[in-house]
Formats: sequence, structure tokens, C-alpha cells
Amino acid sequence: MKLFKKLLVAFLLLITTISRADEGMWLPLFLQQLNEKQMKTMGMKISAKDIYNINSGSLKDAIVSFGGFCTGEVISSKGLVLTNHHCGFDAIQNHSTLERNYIRDGFWAKSQSEEIPNQGLFVTFIVRIEDVSKQVLNGVNINMSESERQSAIDKNIAGLRKEVKKESYQDSFVRPFFEGNQYFLFVTETYRDVRLVGAPPSSIGNFGKDTDNWMWPRHTGDFSMFRIYAGKDNKPAEYSADNIPYTPKKSLSISLDGVNEGDFTMVFGFPGRTNQYLHSAAVQQVMEVNDPAKIAIRDKALAVIDGFMRKDEQIKIQYAAKYASISNSWKKWQGEVLGLTSTNAVGKKKTYETEFQKRVNASPALKEKYGNLLADLEAAYTELKPFGYARDYYLEITSRVELYSIAGWMSSLRMAYERDGQKGYEQRMKQLKTQLSGLYDEYNAEVDQKLFETLLAMYIKDQDEKYQSPVLRKWLAENNNDMAKLAASVYSETILDEKEKLMTLLEKPMTEVVDFIKNEKWIGLVIDMVSTYSNKVTKNLNEIQARINKLNRTYMQAQMEVMKEKKFYPDANSTLRVTYGNVKGYNPRDAVKYDFYTYLDGVMDKYKPGDYEFDVPEKLRELYKNKDFGQYGNKGKMPVCFIAMNHTTGGNSGSPALDAYGNLVGLNFDRVWEGTMSDINYDPSICRNIMVDIRYVLFVVDKYAGAGHLVKEMKLVHPKKK
Ligand code: ARG
Ligand code: GLU
Repeated sequence: MKLFKKLLVAFLLLITTISRADEGMWLPLFLQQLNEKQMKTMGMKISAKDIYNINSGSLKDAIVSFGGFCTGEVISSKGLVLTNHHCGFDAIQNHSTLERNYIRDGFWAKSQSEEIPNQGLFVTFIVRIEDVSKQVLNGVNINMSESERQSAIDKNIAGLRKEVKKESYQDSFVRPFFEGNQYFLFVTETYRDVRLVGAPPSSIGNFGKDTDNWMWPRHTGDFSMFRIYAGKDNKPAEYSADNIPYTPKKSLSISLDGVNEGDFTMVFGFPGRTNQYLHSAAVQQVMEVNDPAKIAIRDKALAVIDGFMRKDEQIKIQYAAKYASISNSWKKWQGEVLGLTSTNAVGKKKTYETEFQKRVNASPALKEKYGNLLADLEAAYTELKPFGYARDYYLEITSRVELYSIAGWMSSLRMAYERDGQKGYEQRMKQLKTQLSGLYDEYNAEVDQKLFETLLAMYIKDQDEKYQSPVLRKWLAENNNDMAKLAASVYSETILDEKEKLMTLLEKPMTEVVDFIKNEKWIGLVIDMVSTYSNKVTKNLNEIQARINKLNRTYMQAQMEVMKEKKFYPDANSTLRVTYGNVKGYNPRDAVKYDFYTYLDGVMDKYKPGDYEFDVPEKLRELYKNKDFGQYGNKGKMPVCFIAMNHTTGGNSGSPALDAYGNLVGLNFDRVWEGTMSDINYDPSICRNIMVDIRYVLFVVDKYAGAGHLVKEMKLVHPKKK
């Protein structure tokens, strides 16, 4: 009986490892060693070397980190880059005005001379990746405190980066993996002249907006195009009108044949952050404490902003990007809580922990090293709980009220003066002016006042008094405990919410400006809120978090040692990864089955004339009516989006979806609602990534926008017809 049980456990564990074939965000460096065999079993026709090779052009040379927050890929020999509409949105918005509204109408450069430069936008290629764990951890030992450890590591990294072999125009960085058990070096090449080439109207690029966001079935043409410009030598160069289109080492071929259910796909890009190895207590806290707190605050913030956007066209343009980004995480967290609940993530973690503990207890040597690990982690998370909640409350609220940022920046001007005199003051002043003008471009004082009133009321009502600023409580009491009254008096008294007045003030002599900052009441309040937070929350939080980090590092190492049958992949950390999985529908709930493809027919089904989210441009309706799909349609239909089992996260937006041969078939832009918990608990039955079909992208570029000259730059292929 005992033997049978043992076999059963081993078998079940084997099944979970096998059926989890689609889980994981893998380092391209190790594909050959860890994944190639499985990828081929799943249908891949190329080799790991075709994906990542530092000696000759491979697929990785066509992938860029887009601005540090998304992914893009090179799709022509003239440096054309494809990414999502929502990734290029900031650029599209910056060039939009009420008269020339690229958000509403789209934009297409008719020739290279019309492509628009974007200050601050960059793309980064990964030249090579190296395991530098030994060098980085040299001299580090377990008796060091976390800060001693970190400074030893920082010193090693600095030394390493000085020695690293690279060209003068290249850069490098080192990142921790597996909770700091391993370190990898990335040599990079960054291009800073990246110009906007084209974007569809929002009614295509963001079709379905927030209602459809994180949802399947989806019908969004979420793409935009840019071009990388280089110096005459094809090397990175600051923006100049004389720069030339970049000639890439590699650009992706584009398949016009689409994918079928079961087909192999892989997604190559820069996933941001995941937490796959959390203790069950931590998962429980995410579900019960942190996500709900952040959701509740954003509920209110979004309602305020939405109210103004619906009434005022100018505010709608100004707040569009802000609204979309606040709402994006807000909706994701809700899906995450639901998904963690429905897949019993905490229960699964507990089962895993029980097995881990059993194996540890069975060996005296392991027990000595790891026996108390789980209990210690649980205790530390229990301690963290109230401080984590206070942190979420504080950060969510203060980052929504923009007057708070302005006050913070002003006070840093005074600090620069007090620390470094006139020189410090002048340096800080330069940055401050750029920050302020960026903020004011997308700012409306009335909206901000309402946010202040609504959110600071939550700050007072929903958290323990000991975490609240005494000055704010006093002011509130002086205003009959009426936050609306307090907000009205702050915004009528202060000039921080008035661009002209504040900018004029900043031109005055230094001592006058510093005196102003010293006496400004609102800046005084912000200083009190900051210091309350730092004394009552961050001090404890940082101390507990440091302990947790150390425990997690040991736990990670222990899992790799004890759970030998499991294949471990590092959590996402905004570095280049490959994930792969087959095209597949799913069953979201009882009696419901979702297909893996959507078509233009579905766009027309959702069409609501004049609607803010579901309007469809007339030209698109016309093309649909005439079935005028050119070479991009399939059997009389126009494919729009599809889903697969690739394990992706935020930052994978704009990542290429590649077929078995490495041809571009789609553009990743989202995940399905039921599966957004894949950051913490990937479940193959309901976790799917959403991609827009490349044929829809090209159809919109060519037939809808009349920018067929761009398609001519690309290499189109028919892998299924050879
Ligand atoms: N959910 C996707 C992501 O996380 C798309 C967001 C953009 N779309 C939107 N409607 N806000 O970035
Ligand atoms: N839309 C996300 C992004 O901006 C990708 C979707 C996800 O989180 O999986 O990166």
C-alpha cells in the first residue's frame, strides 16, 4: 500500500510536470539545453540556434525592448518595427491635437520624410547573454546581512561591467535571477532615434477599449509601427535629421498562412514581472489584502476621471493614456483574484509545500538546512500583512493625486538647494521644468481636486489612524471633517495647480523661490505625509521584506534541490525570454467553450454606431461588405485575433508570435480574463495569451490605410504552401 501511494505521488508529480509543458518564460541562452527537444515534439521545425546565436544573425536580433516597457520586432530590412497600439500610444497621443487627432483618426507617414521623431523613445537589442553568477557572488556568504551582501554584489558587478568585452557604442547590465541565486549579464545596443510611421485609428487599434480589455473573444487590431534610425555608419546615434533607416542584422519573415488549432507558436520578448514561487501565505495575501485594496481605490479614481472625460473632449484627450493605464491593472487584478480562487492556487501551493516539507524532513541534512524555512516564511508574511496594506493604500492614493507629485518635486528643489547650493538648485530646476511641463500637458485641476477629495477620504476612512498624517487629520478637523471642503480650500489657495503662475514663480530669484517652498502649506502637508509613511510604514516594511527576500532565496535554492523532477524557469524580470505553446481554445466555465480564432464578422457583431468603445470606421465596414480582403483573407473571411498557451505577462505586449519556422504570424497584446493569474499560478486549462493575426495587421495597413508601400518593404512567405 505504501509503495502504491509513493508511486501515485511520483506519477502525479510527473503528470503535472508534463502537462505543464506550456508553462515557463525561458532564457534564450539555455533553450538548446532545456527546451529544444520539447519544442520540437510540440511542432517546432527550427533549432534553438536559429532562435539564439551570438555568432551569426538569429531571431533574437530582430527583437527589441520597446522603450523599456514593451516589446517590438524588426519586420523589414529598413528598420521598420512593429509593436502594439497601446505601446506606441504615448507617441501617438503626444503628436495629437484637437485638430490633428491621430488617436481618433490614425496616422500614416506617406514617405520616410513624414515619419515623426519621438523624444525619449528608444529601442534596445540584446547582443549577448552570459551567466556571471560565479563572479557576482564571489566573496558572498550566508552570514552577511542583506545590505552587506548587496554591497559586495554591487562591487562585483561594477568590476565586471568595467571588464566586459563590448563595443564603445554598446552597454551592459546585470540582473539577479532565481531570487538572487544566479546572475546574468546582458550586452545591449540602444537606438534613440525611433520615429512614428503609422497607427490605425483607436476604433481599430483599441477596439472594444476597457470593456473588451483582458477578454476573449477579442477583436482589437492592437498595433502601431515605428522605424529605427541610425547614424551613417548604422550605429546608434542621437536624433538627427541626417540619420538613416537602420539596417538590421535580422528581420522577421511574415507568414500569410495563419495558424490552426494545435499549431506550434512561440512568443519572444521582454516579460516584466512574475511571482511563480511564492509561499501560499503570500498568494493568500495578494488575493485577500493587496489586490482588493488597490482595486477599491482605483474603482473610485476611475469613476472620477471617467465622469470628466465623458463631458469634455479636451479632458478626454489629456486623460486617455492615464485612464487606460489605471484601468488596465485595475481590471487585471480583478481577473487575478477570480483566477487564483477558481484554480485553488492557495490549496495547490499548500499541497506542494506539504510534499516539500515531507522530503526535507526525511533527510537529516536537508532538515538541518531547510526544516524551518516554510514556517519562517509564513511568520514573516503574517508580520508583513498590515504594512503591505498600508503601503498599497499610500502609494495608490498619492500617485493618483497629481498635486502630490508637484509638491514632492518642489520640495526636492529646496533639498537640492540646501544640499548643494546654487549649483544643485540650478540642476534640479532644469529637470523640474521638464517634469512640470509634461505633467501639465495632461492635467486638469478640477479633475485633480475631485481625486484629492475622493481618495484622501479613503486614506482617512480605510486605514489605521497610526499610518495617517497628523497634519492632514488636523486640517480635516478644521474643515468640519469635510474632505470636499478641505480639497476646495487647498486648490483655491495653492498655485501649484496653475501652470502659468507656478512657471512664473520659478523665474524669480532663487532665495525667493526657496522661501516660497518653505512656506507653502500644501507642500508642508505632503512632507508630513511622506514622513509619516516612512516612519510608520517603510521602516518596518523594508526590514521584514529584507528577511523575506533572504528566506525566498533559500527557498528557491531548496526547491531546486528537493523537487528534482520539476523544471525551473526564472521569474520574469524584464529580460529577454522565449515562451512556447500550442494554439488552443479553452473552456472558461461550465458548458462554455471558446474557439481559438476571431474574424472581422465578430467586429461587425460588436459594432455600435457612435459608441465610445465599439464604433467601427466606415471604410472598414465598406471593405467588409465587399469582402475586399486582398491577399490577407482566408476562405472569404478576415481573421482578426487568436489565442494560444504561451505563458506571457505585462511587457510581452508587442512581442512577436512566431510559427514553427520562426515566421511572424501574430502580435501578442493581452491575456484572457480567466487566466490573468498566470503571473502567480499558470494553469494550462485556462491560461491563454491573445494575439492579433498578422494578416489583419497587414490588411489594415494596406487595404484600410492605403500604406501598401510599407508592406512592400516586408518579406511575405507561405510556409504551408511549400
Ligand atoms: N491588457 C493589455 C495590457 O496589459 C492591453 C492594455 C491596453 N488596452 C486597454 N484597453 N487599456 O497591456
Ligand atoms: N498588455 C500587456 C502588456 O502591455 C500584455 C498582456 C499581459 O499582461 O499578458 O504588456
